[in-house]
Amino acid sequence: MHIPLSKAHIPKKVFENINQVFASGKLSGDGSFCHSTEEKLKNILKIKHVLLTSSCTHALEMSMLLLNGKEGDEVILPSFTFTSTANAILVAGLKPVFCEIDPKTFNIDINDVLKKITPKTIAIIPVHYAGVACDMEKLLEICRPKNIKIIEDAAHAIGAKWDHKFLGTIGDMGCLSFHDTKNVICGEGGAFLTNDDSLAEKAMIIREKGTNRAQFLKGQVDKYTWVAKGSSYILAEPLAAILSAEVDIMFELNEKRGNIHHYYYDNLKILEEKNILTLPFLPNYSETNYHLFFIVLNSPEQRNSLMSHLRSKGIGATFHYIPLHSAPLGIELGNKPNDLEITEKFHSRLLRLPLYPDMEQKDYETVVSEIIAWSHEIA
Ligand SMILES: Cc1ncc(COP(=O)(O)O)c(C=O)c1O
Repeated sequence: MHIPLSKAHIPKKVFENINQVFASGKLSGDGSFCHSTEEKLKNILKIKHVLLTSSCTHALEMSMLLLNGKEGDEVILPSFTFTSTANAILVAGLKPVFCEIDPKTFNIDINDVLKKITPKTIAIIPVHYAGVACDMEKLLEICRPKNIKIIEDAAHAIGAKWDHKFLGTIGDMGCLSFHDTKNVICGEGGAFLTNDDSLAEKAMIIREKGTNRAQFLKGQVDKYTWVAKGSSYILAEPLAAILSAEVDIMFELNEKRGNIHHYYYDNLKILEEKNILTLPFLPNYSETNYHLFFIVLNSPEQRNSLMSHLRSKGIGATFHYIPLHSAPLGIELGNKPNDLEITEKFHSRLLRLPLYPDMEQKDYETVVSEIIAWSHEIA
């Protein structure tokens, strides 16, 4: 593809930081770049605790383990998400309960959440799809009186906001991704966020193989030992060094994506007016980070036809998640494809367009002109 779906922006500072790490000879996790980047994120996102992790998948696993649930306890999530959201629930021995999406935003459908809550529901994982906030006001209203925990899957959403608050900082816990395809990257990486001191303390132990090594490094105990169940979820120092440079230019990166997002929106409006496609909907409570740009076609056949057309021109347009409830493991867990009709209907109409900070104007102009050329072919 000569116009890929995404491509990481690597600032020069990354090379300086990496050299510094190699010169120090200390490459393992919880080192100085890890600490300073956690501090930077705390200040930017206005959250009490940030723990860098080896991925968002691992941050989600940590948050599910921290629920301390018992077998049979249920966690509600949208079916239209990445496997990691559901896997984390299974890793903690809990039951995933799949929920519909709102076809305008592809975010969790609050009316369906209400239908899926049972006395066994202990948590809900809203996924802020494409960096657009879920309806957090309604979710908080539903969850707080019932003591249902909210864990935000903010894998797409660094720097995006709901009601002036950063996504990932609103619920009880939040999880970010720094995978190569995200707005702020370090190859593979993530972060666990919380304002709760006790959860943060337990999270540090889980992240460090069930030991109190973090307390030892702070000089709070004179030796470290095995204190709880845990795993190895810490971010290695060379990756934290890359992340540090990326976090410094986070808003600049989001703005560059925003310019391309606006171009797509403004120049594809004409096709929405002709009822050929639907453009993304941004609710007024949401301030997006422009993580990705998608269009929704009128049928799966039209989506596939446009995707083939763009790919034949070297443009990396692509679909997104295959719903989890109807995936082989979803079926094995007792779900049926027609359980979630809206998710089934809309996921196969969605098409993502190339979007990355260094995308050249001639390239996004080509994407739009090829979509318009395709629309003439099917007219
Ligand atoms: C909604 C969602 N959650 C979690 C993840 C997992 O992120 P990571 O690759 O950092 O583990 C992804 C990955 O793209 C995702 O899309």
